Amino acid sequence: MEKTLLYEGKAKRIYSVAGKNDEVIQEFKDDATAFNGLKKDTIHNKGIRNTEITTILMNYLGENGIPTHFIEKISDNEMIVKKVDIIKVEVVCRNVAAGSLIKKFGFKEGTALQNPIVEYYLKSDTLGDPLFTVDHITALGLASAKDMEYIKSLTLIINELLVTFFRKRNIRVVDFKLEFGRDKDNNIILADEISPDTCRFWDVETNEKLDKDRFRFDLGKVEEAYEEILNRIKN
Ligand code: TMP
Repeated sequence: MEKTLLYEGKAKRIYSVAGKNDEVIQEFKDDATAFNGLKKDTIHNKGIRNTEITTILMNYLGENGIPTHFIEKISDNEMIVKKVDIIKVEVVCRNVAAGSLIKKFGFKEGTALQNPIVEYYLKSDTLGDPLFTVDHITALGLASAKDMEYIKSLTLIINELLVTFFRKRNIRVVDFKLEFGRDKDNNIILADEISPDTCRFWDVETNEKLDKDRFRFDLGKVEEAYEEILNRIKN
């Protein structure tokens, strides 16, 4: 397959495929960054594991009625996805207080939230991904208020689906980040990835962190956490 690099991000590369205008290849790298690129390293086998984890989760969400960009996994670290225009809004959904919720608002880590909190961050490395509101989003022309209502409702359904899926595997879905895009027909669909890079997963019994926080905060056993998530969701 003849492919041309279209875009390289911190954790993935996107390639166009000769003769296919509506599809791209999404390749997962072992590179890991945190704190807007300040901390950098590689996590052995992360690309392979995140490809498999994202494949399982995108398939599961698709089977449950969520429109996604996922088409098929084509190698250990590559998948074919629908080509979309990414909406430059990172959508974060939280069930349990952790991460920036603690830093910004003083929640105590591990507090179960009565209702999920949905937040929006501007997807911009140069501006450091600031938290913003739907009014900022519409003023910047990134999406309409109606689009954002739809994105929020999809996010809450995805949350329910992920919580149910992971509960059966003894994992708490603490929070996660989603990205959406517009396909060729202008439909809004789920894009990007769902993996321990973009979610916080805690073991239900021990509260052990099984996600990228192990890398962010030098907690050790980083590769093992990705492997553990993959093993728990494989069956
Ligand atoms: P936060 O608590 O640091 O705001 O992160 C919330 C969730 O979003 C967490 O599951 C990790 C994920 N996330 C990303 O996927 N990319 C990012 O750049 C950041 C900051 C967080």
